[in-house]
Amino acid sequence: MSLIEKIEGLLSEVKDFKAKAPEEVESFRIRILGSKGELKKLFGEFKNVPSEARKEFGEKLNELKTKAQDKINELKSSSDSAGQSDDFIDLTRPSQSAALGSRHPISVVRNRILDIFNRIGYTIAEGPEIEDDWHNFSALNFTEEHPARDMQDTFFIGPDALLRTHTSSVQVRVMESQEPPIRVICPGRVFRNEAISARAHCIFHQIEGLYIDKGVSFADMKQNLLHFARELFGEDVKIRLRPSYFPFTEPSAEMDIYWGLESEADYRITKGTGWLEIMGCGMIDPNVLKNSNIDPEQYSGFAFGMGIERIAMLLFQVKNLRLYFENDLRFLNQFKAAL
Ligand code: PHE
Repeated sequence: MSLIEKIEGLLSEVKDFKAKAPEEVESFRIRILGSKGELKKLFGEFKNVPSEARKEFGEKLNELKTKAQDKINELKSSSDSAGQSDDFIDLTRPSQSAALGSRHPISVVRNRILDIFNRIGYTIAEGPEIEDDWHNFSALNFTEEHPARDMQDTFFIGPDALLRTHTSSVQVRVMESQEPPIRVICPGRVFRNEAISARAHCIFHQIEGLYIDKGVSFADMKQNLLHFARELFGEDVKIRLRPSYFPFTEPSAEMDIYWGLESEADYRITKGTGWLEIMGCGMIDPNVLKNSNIDPEQYSGFAFGMGIERIAMLLFQVKNLRLYFENDLRFLNQFKAAL
């Protein structure tokens, strides 16, 4: 057998070699690459090779050396990982984490608010985002010249089609289609033609409440809203009702919660009063009841409406409105714990 044939034989041996245990790999390494191994012996033959055949011989030897080394490395690394899973499974190792989503903070706050009112007998009602003048304005006692109808506030999208500017339009739809007693809570998106800034956005979310029955009074409204504020902000919350004006309620009020006046930031947020406005409310104007064929002699009721973003700002201390609309995961991921 020539030396070249011998190398060829070793090369095919290397190619086909398989090992069941790390020890087999090691003894294979010693036999081929060890200090008394085949490779060493063949290098020793160099002097006996005729000079014209030395080049081929040298190349073959180098090929054997690298192929044997590669094979051994390959077998070693695969036996490392295989050996681990066979003999030892570390059950305490954390598994690969699955990326979990989280609810959007606006949904978190909306759900909390809906839950509170659901528990005291309100059911959820929804209405269209594209409204007509009647449901958004006229039925709610907005006069023909009311400034809120102005192009600056409202997105008009057709002769009698606009994007609702408040969820009070859902009140009208509910009054038209249901008989009192009525207790509904209406979440939804609303649209106003405003420049986008840290404090204003052209799309935001509101929740509207409507309660109509025989003998409903302002005191009933106040108790409902106090209950709501306590559930959302805690037992110790303080509220106050300030006289205000809406075309569809009389009397009308704005509800504030006491925020505190301890830090410089409190002064800024509450404009130095310590109080923060969170919703508009009032007794439904008899005209509005009449517009929807509910007899104001028999029935009375109250309505209230609040901005979800505003309440989210208070609950989560996130003051820049834009964050609620950009869907930046670095922001959203912070609400994983909020349900
Ligand atoms: N619709 C009013 C607004 O958008 C809020 C409101 C609702 C006030 C119900 C009174 C009663 O500002």
